[in-house]
Amino acid sequence: MNGSTHVDFEHTGPGLPAGELLRRYWQPAFVSEELPVAHPKPLKILGEELTLYRGEDKVARIIDGRCPHRGLVMSVGKVEGDSIRCRYHGWKIDPTGQCVEQPFEPKSFAAKVRVRSYPVEEYFGLIWVYLGPAPTPPLPRWPSLEQCGYFHVVELRKWNYFHDLENTVDDVHQRWVHAEGIYQDAANAGQIPAATALETEFGLMQYTSFPNGYLRKLALFMPNMLYFTSGAGMLRGFKSFLWNVPVDDVSHKMFFLLVAAHLSPEDGRDVADGVRSGMRYVASSLPPVEQVIQSVLSGEKRWEDIESRPDLLLIEDGIVLVGQGIIPDRSKNRLGASDAAIILLRKLYTREMSRIEKGEQPSAFPGPDERLLAQIDEFQAEPA
Ligand code: FES
Ligand SMILES: [Fe+2]
Repeated sequence: MNGSTHVDFEHTGPGLPAGELLRRYWQPAFVSEELPVAHPKPLKILGEELTLYRGEDKVARIIDGRCPHRGLVMSVGKVEGDSIRCRYHGWKIDPTGQCVEQPFEPKSFAAKVRVRSYPVEEYFGLIWVYLGPAPTPPLPRWPSLEQCGYFHVVELRKWNYFHDLENTVDDVHQRWVHAEGIYQDAANAGQIPAATALETEFGLMQYTSFPNGYLRKLALFMPNMLYFTSGAGMLRGFKSFLWNVPVDDVSHKMFFLLVAAHLSPEDGRDVADGVRSGMRYVASSLPPVEQVIQSVLSGEKRWEDIESRPDLLLIEDGIVLVGQGIIPDRSKNRLGASDAAIILLRKLYTREMSRIEKGEQPSAFPGPDERLLAQIDEFQAEPA
């Protein structure tokens, strides 16, 4: 089987088909607790420079990245009430993006000056943004999980997002890349499962049936969210959500949201607190993930000599992903039957991007609401 002919899955700037597809869905942008009141942050998503700030009313907001006067980044500005004032000449922009003050202009033309502002919500400890056309769809919500403990892992990855997206539904790599996981569990070790992919109303299901009856399920919600409950190691037992959000074409952020639905709310919160402090320890005491990835890719260190650590999985994946090239030429791929989910993912993207290019409406894939999550959790394939 040959790879696809060239389709541009990788470039996601404004106006490009993959970018327009991703913009039609809410994306996680930032961790809520990392945004204090009146401390604006520069933010880049899908190649767009934005400004994120929390007003004195505690509400998080996202507006364009630069001042409409002479282009200073607004993230060095000063928050005043629910608005933000540019540090250069004092123009003030309100939360809708409207310029409301030009202090040194004898005849203010502020009413004629506006930047874009974007719908923002906060949920499950994350700040979400919608960058697409109106109408804004509702943000998916999970009322039955709201009492559970949860934690996030957010990782900046310095390669194109589509690598990680494909990797999320590539179950075979679990056997070869990871030291710990479902393929290494005693009952599964040495088994050769069958990997299948099914198109669904929300995107695709990848399932791997082991001869011993074990079934692994991965649900990819178009365009860029993965849901699974079959994680191993640190993820065991958690309901796991993962968004791969392009920063630009050569980097993206992975936002993991891990919900302890298998534990009581108290135990779940304790476990989540423990994981958070463990992650702080890892971040402060071990070499950065990126550094270890580069040390292996440069030939300085052998794969076999990578030290074991709690976030080893991110290093293992990072090496095999950036090792394909920052933006690889997928048309050269030679895909086989075990790439069923990759083939289907590319097919769905190709179909939706082509609709967008022709000016047609792309599919409105449903978000990961509770009805669909329950359906996925209950789904049972025939044992292989
Ligand atoms: S650049 Fe912002 S007020 Fe001049
Ligand atoms: Fe992996």
